[in-house]
Amino acid sequence: MTERELRILLNDMSLEEKVGQMVQLPGQNYGSFAAVTGKAEKKEDGQPILDQAGSTLGIYGAEKLKKIQKAYMEKQPHHIPLMFMLDVIHGYETAFQCPLGMGASFDPELVKKCAEIAAKEAAAGGIHVTFSPMADLARDARWGRVMESTGEDPWLNGKMAAAMVEGFQGENRKQTGKVSSCVKHFAAYGAATAGLDYTNVELSEHTLREYYLKAYQEGIHAGCDMVMTSFNTWNGVPSTGNPWLMKEVLRKEMGFDGIVISDWGAVGEMVNHGFCEDRKEAAERALKAGVDIDMCSDCYADYLVDLVREGVIDEKEIDEAVYRILLLKNELGLFENPYKDADEQREKELFLCEGHRRTAREMVQKSAVLLKNEEDGKAGKLLPLNPAEKIAFIGPYIEGEDMRSSWVVTGSAKNSVSICQAAKEAFRDDQICFAKGCTLLDNDTLLNGSEYHSDSWEEDNDRLLCEAIQTAKQADVVVLCLGEQNHQSGEATSRTHLTLPKIQRTLLSEISKVNPRIVTVIFSGRPLELSEVETHSKAMLEVWMPGTEGGHGIMDLLTGVCSPSGKLTMSFPYTVGQEPMSYSQLTSGRPCPKGSKAPFLTRYLDCSTAPLYPFGYGLSYTDFSISEPTLDRTEMQAGETIVASVTVANGGKRTGCEVVQLYIQDVAASCVRPVKELKGFRRVELAPGEAQRVTFSISEEMLRFHRGDGSFGSEPGKFRLWIGNSSEDGEAREFFLY
Ligand code: BGC
Repeated sequence: MTERELRILLNDMSLEEKVGQMVQLPGQNYGSFAAVTGKAEKKEDGQPILDQAGSTLGIYGAEKLKKIQKAYMEKQPHHIPLMFMLDVIHGYETAFQCPLGMGASFDPELVKKCAEIAAKEAAAGGIHVTFSPMADLARDARWGRVMESTGEDPWLNGKMAAAMVEGFQGENRKQTGKVSSCVKHFAAYGAATAGLDYTNVELSEHTLREYYLKAYQEGIHAGCDMVMTSFNTWNGVPSTGNPWLMKEVLRKEMGFDGIVISDWGAVGEMVNHGFCEDRKEAAERALKAGVDIDMCSDCYADYLVDLVREGVIDEKEIDEAVYRILLLKNELGLFENPYKDADEQREKELFLCEGHRRTAREMVQKSAVLLKNEEDGKAGKLLPLNPAEKIAFIGPYIEGEDMRSSWVVTGSAKNSVSICQAAKEAFRDDQICFAKGCTLLDNDTLLNGSEYHSDSWEEDNDRLLCEAIQTAKQADVVVLCLGEQNHQSGEATSRTHLTLPKIQRTLLSEISKVNPRIVTVIFSGRPLELSEVETHSKAMLEVWMPGTEGGHGIMDLLTGVCSPSGKLTMSFPYTVGQEPMSYSQLTSGRPCPKGSKAPFLTRYLDCSTAPLYPFGYGLSYTDFSISEPTLDRTEMQAGETIVASVTVANGGKRTGCEVVQLYIQDVAASCVRPVKELKGFRRVELAPGEAQRVTFSISEEMLRFHRGDGSFGSEPGKFRLWIGNSSEDGEAREFFLY
């Protein structure tokens, strides 16, 4: 349709019909099964809102959605198609590594490719919009949703958010295999106080702008069609009712002209927050704040028409929102083809196809982080595994556990390749043995919406432990697969303890008594406290929630088919008491030099202020060296650049990939600046004996920040830079901006 035709359509719509476009109903109103992430009530058949609601979420599948679309359009007065939305967070049928893991790949191109594949599969399944990427800055591992983010660094998150938006949407949403992308949760949801989901966020405007808004901004620059409000309050105001945030910041400053959708039920929740007297006031406030679509709270459905008729809301505001919604439907090509790519044949061809699985496997290979790999006598390091040795795969994660995160709502865990299966493919039967070792969870563990309990938990675990000890005794080396259950991270999974379940720690310590040559493979959707695991392990591989090709990708790394190259994008603490944490802290007035015992310094008495494993950290099977950086000049003005370079050399015996990282510090400024900030990185693959010069070009633009007076720009003065293989590596160099 042309814009003129869209305007004509809008003018012809009744007020009720227009409000309908602004209502999103949960999928159970249309289909038998729907993914639910909040309260979902089914409407009575015959309620007009069922024929008028402009979009729905949580249902999928070409055949089903085509039927629903056909029936809906017959009743919708202007035959305007329904828009189908879904959380396609890290894959559809082919589940990729979870977003926190994807971040660790430091490979935005590969992240984009995963989003492209997810979009293709989702579009074939009838989906038009994905609620992804989540661009929230995540620095508190107690918050379960860190798994859905790419980590603690605003700049890296921005690169990853943009890559995902580009991957999902492409140049043109009408094209086959493209879906619209929704950047969420605006704003600052990741700063939930004490890591407690849905609560208040306490941040200064400076911190909000300088660190928290950056990644959303990058997603918006990349052209995302939608933005979702966050559940939290900021400055005492829920985002969903904050006109300053939506109208001034998002629309005016950031230039966003797409659709703003509330999070699930968030409009109505403003009553619970104590921000609105009742749901009618909530509808008014959300609309006036700039929310175009009410996801599942029904406040718009119940009150917007009355609010207009009573003169509280100007119909023009409704028209603006509805026009944006019609525009997106038009950009998706739904007026010409309401089914878009929904196609059973394409589903068959695309779902879990070889190419998609290959990319999922590659992402596992590139995102797993080797945390430890100790010398193990004459034989060298314990990893990669020596095929001449007998290997015991032990632990609750070797088989049967879902390796996809709680945010894969489609597909089946059965399609995932387990550790057992991959081990059997990689080794002869007489080289390997298996034992489950223990249950994944301690008995009576509370999960989101359920509680794990087994009446025979104790007997089962006694038996499993005995079997595992026998298995470990027979083997030369033990690969112990431990971790969080996939529903222990994700939405509403805040935790005050970040250790592995006690039963798994017992397994580890008992096994170490009979066979200390332990490689621990850790599955998790967040940084865990791993000191105890470290004590008992000679090698450790963090594999996150690796998805469908988990087993294959992990086995490729364990056997040395490829070398680990992932780097942490969240600091791993010694203890939960250090949370929230980030390598990029502001400079203290009393910094504590490493190892110093002097009094009155910024430190904990009972723990290091540094993490167990820092941001950017990750080992490889080969030995990389990075030379001290050289600068082509040490002074520059705006418009000029300084080229900083290092030589990266592979002095080991294997081909590997190093992620070379550039960090910069503004030494003195009108606002205290972080001790260092990531400003660039390169993935460099080198064969044994090979070396490569890596250069970074530093411009004045990269040094800009939100200054003391609220303006945005750089300030002349002294800067430091580091180039290394983690946030704790590298010799500082100085340069000056004039
Ligand atoms: C989550 C969103 C999600 C939405 C729809 C909410 O509970 O916070 O991230 O997109 O549900 O499923």
